[in-house]
Amino acid sequence: MTENYKEFASRIKEKIILKERAVSDRTLDKIPYTAVNGRFDDKSDDKNINWWTNGFYGGMLWLLYHETGDERYAERAEKIADKLSVCFDRFYNLDHDMGFLWLPTDVASYRLTGNKDGRRRGLLAANILAGRFNPAGNYIRAWNDGIGKENGPTSNVGWCIIDCLMNLPLLYFASEETKDPRFKHIAVRHADMAIKNFLRADGSVNHIVEINPETGEFVQSFGGQGYGLGSSWTRGQSWALYGFLLSYLHTGEERYLEASKKVADYFVSQIPESGLIPVDFRQPAEPAYEDSTAAAISSCGLIELSKAVSDPKLKEKYLDAALKMLKALSDKRCDYDPETDNLLSHCSASYHANEHHFPIIYGDYFFMEAIFNLAGSDFSIWK
Ligand code: GLY
Repeated sequence: MTENYKEFASRIKEKIILKERAVSDRTLDKIPYTAVNGRFDDKSDDKNINWWTNGFYGGMLWLLYHETGDERYAERAEKIADKLSVCFDRFYNLDHDMGFLWLPTDVASYRLTGNKDGRRRGLLAANILAGRFNPAGNYIRAWNDGIGKENGPTSNVGWCIIDCLMNLPLLYFASEETKDPRFKHIAVRHADMAIKNFLRADGSVNHIVEINPETGEFVQSFGGQGYGLGSSWTRGQSWALYGFLLSYLHTGEERYLEASKKVADYFVSQIPESGLIPVDFRQPAEPAYEDSTAAAISSCGLIELSKAVSDPKLKEKYLDAALKMLKALSDKRCDYDPETDNLLSHCSASYHANEHHFPIIYGDYFFMEAIFNLAGSDFSIWK
């Protein structure tokens, strides 16, 4: 059984490596978000350099470097990290996505090559993330003034979002690296707050929660990037599934494993026969919006979860679900042609966005991570 997973993953991994060599030789140190007519764009410009997805192409290069040993990937990834470092001069543009930006870039560089600049900038990023913690409400503030105002006329000072669980590994990294538990204490308090305020009885999760920043009381939740209030935005479910698990892997605290399993059991029960994932599990049947990124991210979480649980039936259940989604992506939503920059199609940033079903770089990143992990890679950006 396990061998089947490995055979599939090894076959796909070879196709990815072949394609990405050509893509990297064209893309060099650009920082793509999407591709238009098969060519990556570049978010390196002054206005966009702090965009939250700007770590993912660097992360792909580090995964490729780890698997192939080809120095070209490391050189290009280092150039991307150097470009990102200008963000520190404009600290007011940075938000809670410090983990998404610096774990796949500088921290990966430090872990794989011992690069001291990577360590320094990774720790600086962790300090900035820690600075967003509100001790009255035990949450890390998500965004800065004005962001997300389409959700309602409230201030976002008290807003935290489920995605932030994926940024917590930067705090665990800082504690592990400095032997100072302050960062880990913040991560744990935020993760506990998320269990209390985001996780619903059926295993689904809210996207945005507002906490009173003075008293710490729960105020309300918002539909955020999903269909609406109380709905089930699939990328948010994926962040929760994987994010709670990462807190378990960093702390050994069983409550995070239980939270991850609860989300996973809900998620697996919702996977359609096709294996393709909608933008929201509670969206109307039409339009049939999909999000390939949710399929890729949840597959990464399920593969790791299958390693963390001891019950063989659960292991199989989680791996089977991941494999179903990865096979659906590979057969129907993947372009392995080396002449096309993007790997995945049918990604959607949010339900109510004007545009759906286009390439998004973190879809490619997480698809690559899932396949390399399943094929036996021992390197992780998040652990
Ligand atoms: N972290 C934002 C998103 O998933 O769209």
